[in-house]
Amino acid sequence: MLFLTNSAILWTSNSPFSDMDENILQEDIGSVVADEFSPTFDCFRIKADANKYVYPGTLVATPIDKNHFLIGRIKSSLEVNPHESASRAKVREALDIEPDYPEEKLSTNIYRVYEADVIEEGILSKEGEAIKMEVSEPSDMPKAGARVFIPTEEVVANAMGFLREEDKALVLGRTKITNGDEDQENPKNNVLLKPSLIQRHVFVGGTTGSGKSYATGVILEEVNKFKIPIIILDSQNEYIGLAEGLGGVVLKPGDDYKVRLSSLTEGEILGLVPTLPEVGRNLLAFTFLQLKREIIRGERGGFGLDDILIEMSNNAPSLQVNTNSLQIALQRTRSSLERHRFLGDETNWKDLLRDQPVVNIDCGDLDQHQLQLVIGATLRELQHLRKSVEIPPYVAVLDEAHLLVPEGEDSPCKQVIREGVRIGRHYGICMFLITQSPVDIDKKTIRQCNTRFIFALEPDQLESIKGVRADATEDMLQRLPKMPVGTCILSGTYETVKHAIPIKIRKRNIESGGKTPDIFTEMTEKWINKKK
Ligand SMILES: Nc1ncnc2c1ncn2[C@@H]1O[C@H](COP(=O)(O)OP(=O)(O)OP(=O)(O)O)[C@@H](O)[C@H]1O
Ligand SMILES: [Mg+2]
Repeated sequence: MLFLTNSAILWTSNSPFSDMDENILQEDIGSVVADEFSPTFDCFRIKADANKYVYPGTLVATPIDKNHFLIGRIKSSLEVNPHESASRAKVREALDIEPDYPEEKLSTNIYRVYEADVIEEGILSKEGEAIKMEVSEPSDMPKAGARVFIPTEEVVANAMGFLREEDKALVLGRTKITNGDEDQENPKNNVLLKPSLIQRHVFVGGTTGSGKSYATGVILEEVNKFKIPIIILDSQNEYIGLAEGLGGVVLKPGDDYKVRLSSLTEGEILGLVPTLPEVGRNLLAFTFLQLKREIIRGERGGFGLDDILIEMSNNAPSLQVNTNSLQIALQRTRSSLERHRFLGDETNWKDLLRDQPVVNIDCGDLDQHQLQLVIGATLRELQHLRKSVEIPPYVAVLDEAHLLVPEGEDSPCKQVIREGVRIGRHYGICMFLITQSPVDIDKKTIRQCNTRFIFALEPDQLESIKGVRADATEDMLQRLPKMPVGTCILSGTYETVKHAIPIKIRKRNIESGGKTPDIFTEMTEKWINKKK
């Protein structure tokens, strides 16, 4: 009889849920109020019990009859306190007196009102002794006066489309958000996502330091559980510890990682030899495209610098390039391309992905142009191999994605990433895009990333993702900066994550790099003391 003991609210007859309370109720928080806006089919307002607090995004429930209840998601809140009206506060100020009125619990006119959107309807039924719960589209409206409660994790999981078995899910965190010590509270992780959602790509956005890399690390730990190879294109040395912790390898472009010339585009290769005169440019472009065509026709697997130089010499007569111009073209092409140490032999992805659960390409030392070249070429090589099923399905992680798929500008690297998100679902190519600047990233690309983790963002950045925030409300997003670090809004499609909801990302199993350095300790220990 839990429903009837805690609050003096309706339902004395029929005792709705009387034998089912324990399955769906966690904590009473208030009751549905009737006013000119509430309740409706879409929303209801709640007078909160004293000392019961919820935040935007919290799921609540309210019974509608014996075995139906509605699930709502908190949208906004308002405190009513006539003692603190501007006029009363002014009188106190003028008379120099302290406020003197009872606290909310004892007061007859201080209370808080929350507003919730109706998002799902829960239906309980008995199957023998067991109680079955199903969730479907809301078909009724909340009842004024009915109690409102925080539902159990099972209700939340059902309403959100989360799974229940940890070993079959990506276990990312919980919907219960607290500020305290997680270990002491021992909160249960209930954000258990369907692993298949990675095939529809993942987007992680948030301001610097908001917890994007940390969350990505957690997602990757979970992906690793399913033995799907992970390739991290790590532009900020943030995932080295994670890659090593998961038993993977870290490769550095120029040292032990190279991309083949044949993986670049015509525009990229010409951009790498800027000093080439017109005749030489034409010769290089012609030769490059001819070699590419040979790959498409299956006459070559790939090609390197020597192949290009030989074929340039062979093509010179037919393009009427004289010996002198040819020599200049060959010499400039060689010296320009040799300068880029990341260009070289083919990387044996088949062996790499067979032997390594995680391959981290440590791109920290590359400038933006080099970064685009290396990442573009790498993704082209991987996509090609995956299309011909020479390598297994994989996850490719792109940090600082706004540099790679910028809004407005076009680049070869952008094309291959767009292609990855467009065809990925069919080929088992899973793209994870992470950015601190959603304003600057191509919106078409993030629209195709169906699972999104939005961390705290500045208002202009929030504005820029308006089209991709699913049913997350303004209040939910705006509150993020005030939430504990590691809190984000998770959203997906109706098949994966039914509704946008705030979640707290779980603790990582593997500690890794990317921690914010403590510059004050460094100043004291390394620089100030040294000066003396
Ligand atoms: N869920 C979490 N639990 C515990 N600590 C966290 C969590 N999320 C983030 N942190 C801590 O917050 C700090 C910043 O997080 P993180 O490095 O992920 O930020 P970021 O969004 O990737 O920033 P940047 O854009 O600058 O790379 C880290 O030191 C990390 O340890
Ligand atoms: Mg980061």
